[in-house]
Amino acid sequence: MTAQRNILVTSALPYANGPIHLGHLVEYIQTDIWARFQRLRGNHCYYVCADDAHGTPIMLRARQDGIEPEQLIAAVQKEHEADFADFLIAFDNYYTTHSDENRELSSGIYLKLRDAGHIATRTISQSYDPEAEMFLPDRFIKGTCPNCGAEDQYGDNCEVCGATYAPTELKNPVSAISGATPIEKDSEQYFFKLSDFADMLQKWMRDGHVQPEIANKLDEWFEEGLQDWDISRNAPYWGFEIPDAPGKYFYVWLDAPIGYMASFKNLCDREGIDFDAYWHSDSTTELHHFIGKDIARFHTLFWPAVLDGSGYRKPTAVYCHGFLTVNGQKMSKSRGTFIKARTYLDNLKPEYLRYYYAAKLSSGVDDIDLNLEDFMQRVNSDLVGKVVNIASRCAGFINKRFDNQLAAELPAAELYDELVSAGDAIAKEFENREYSKAVREIMALADKANVYIDDNKPWVLIKEEGREAQVQAICTQGINLFRVLMTYLKPILPETAQRSEDFLNSELTWDALAQPLLNHSINKFKPLMTRIEKEQIEAMVEQSTEHLEQTESESAATGPLADDPIAETIQFDDFARVDLRIAKIIKAEHVEGADKLLQLTLDIGGETRNVFAGIKSAYQPELLEGRLTVMVANLAPRKMRFGVSEGMVLAAGPGGKDLFILSPDDGAQPGMRVK
Ligand code: 2FM
Ligand code: ZN
Repeated sequence: MTAQRNILVTSALPYANGPIHLGHLVEYIQTDIWARFQRLRGNHCYYVCADDAHGTPIMLRARQDGIEPEQLIAAVQKEHEADFADFLIAFDNYYTTHSDENRELSSGIYLKLRDAGHIATRTISQSYDPEAEMFLPDRFIKGTCPNCGAEDQYGDNCEVCGATYAPTELKNPVSAISGATPIEKDSEQYFFKLSDFADMLQKWMRDGHVQPEIANKLDEWFEEGLQDWDISRNAPYWGFEIPDAPGKYFYVWLDAPIGYMASFKNLCDREGIDFDAYWHSDSTTELHHFIGKDIARFHTLFWPAVLDGSGYRKPTAVYCHGFLTVNGQKMSKSRGTFIKARTYLDNLKPEYLRYYYAAKLSSGVDDIDLNLEDFMQRVNSDLVGKVVNIASRCAGFINKRFDNQLAAELPAAELYDELVSAGDAIAKEFENREYSKAVREIMALADKANVYIDDNKPWVLIKEEGREAQVQAICTQGINLFRVLMTYLKPILPETAQRSEDFLNSELTWDALAQPLLNHSINKFKPLMTRIEKEQIEAMVEQSTEHLEQTESESAATGPLADDPIAETIQFDDFARVDLRIAKIIKAEHVEGADKLLQLTLDIGGETRNVFAGIKSAYQPELLEGRLTVMVANLAPRKMRFGVSEGMVLAAGPGGKDLFILSPDDGAQPGMRVK
């Protein structure tokens, strides 16, 4: 037997401003299977996580909801914890980054970095919202793409043409918070000097702590050169204030990974575990992080460097996984495939998904697909049809005919040995996160077990005189084969494993498999797992679908202009989400201080809307009153400098004086859907 390992495992910390969905669960299920596998093998394995509770989006979301950030993060954490528990994710601790432990650890780490000379201060110029009185993260600045001219693009990249740029390069930038035009403002910021760690990181990478795909990515980053990393944000910011730097806060990505340590510290203090053994030295302990490939940079450059620079150990491994697609496409609310953890749980058992993900997961960074039809078939045929079936075919005889007693010997000991000796290879697959290979192997063994029962037909033999002992032996064999398979599946199916333990009257452990269960009394068999019904999946998709009435499009598009290419193709579903209505302009006014805007009051048939429209160059307001226009009626209200705009008016034309809305009398009525 190899020595017991001491392992600390983490999954990435989900942001405390949104629900857990099936995309998130790839990682938590992947990690949980690994942690449970380690425990099943007799290793010490702690699995900790937390909510990632800081940052501008959380601050703004709380503001929008009219609550304190503390209230928001507490409510979200509660939901996250319930979702994870119901998916059987067995954390040893689930905490929050907004904790005393994290504040102390983050400050301590920062001070060590600073005192060792790894922090630099510099004055930089950044976008600032003069109305909201705050600096704007890139994603809160919107404007026209400097490359292709697409409107309403985020401050760092264009979703239409894929260009990346600095927010200062956007044309007509506006703050997504207030609608104001951002200005450039200087402020002093704190930088972590990542390049101090270039040699250390290169060596760490070469020593095999990351997957080959990620090592390639790291090589690219090394080639580009390691830039200093801005770890500070100006007030107002929701996070921890930086020591000796009033009004400056740690950027959320500085204290987030330290949240791994803080969650573990909280556990150590509660349970008397030696924190330092896991974080100060790597001689007797291992540290494994499971993350999505999108956050590899934070975990394979910044994080090991921050740890190293502040005197802590570095991770044993960082494992990246790919993204989830559903039915081959990005998760989509209109298709009903953006499925929240809770919606899934309202309809289906967690183990189905755990099994399906396991059957798909490998050690690589490829995306995995949840095909809902395949999901149903695979779970039903593998788990219900193969594995659970072995027990249910044998248990009744032992329960009823043999007073729950297993026989004294196995009639096919070599088959039992074959299943047990496959355990080494299966263990290796689990260890290496090649779960799909492990599952394939386990199912091949399940097929063998079923063939054995099919060949020996206890249900026929039991009708023949004097064959009782043989039937007992065959069923004992079947139940022992089931025991081996369930032991291998225990990390994936903890609940079914627990029920199997109750039935077998014996704990499932890897080591125990060396001895079959003989002369042993089992308990009454109860059904272990039910089939997935199509209706359950349909109900889940239905509950996840954002319903939008279909709109027929009859496009009157003009041809594309050479300098204004047609934007990226959208699907009909995307278009159907836009609710276009005929609106009657009942009032039109100038807006004080606005060069381009008119303020319109629109009647859309029983409801009036206030809309700011950029058509001042083409129309005198008094000429607009009484006319009809087409408006986007379901556009989220936008706070602008002059008030809230509750929709958007559509006009066509080259601009300037030539912008046309509908004619006054074309038979349309306010509120009519545009077809
Ligand atoms: O990308 C995210 O969802 C982050 N909240 C992950 C943080 S992981 C760790 F560094 F805290
Ligand atoms: Zn563009």
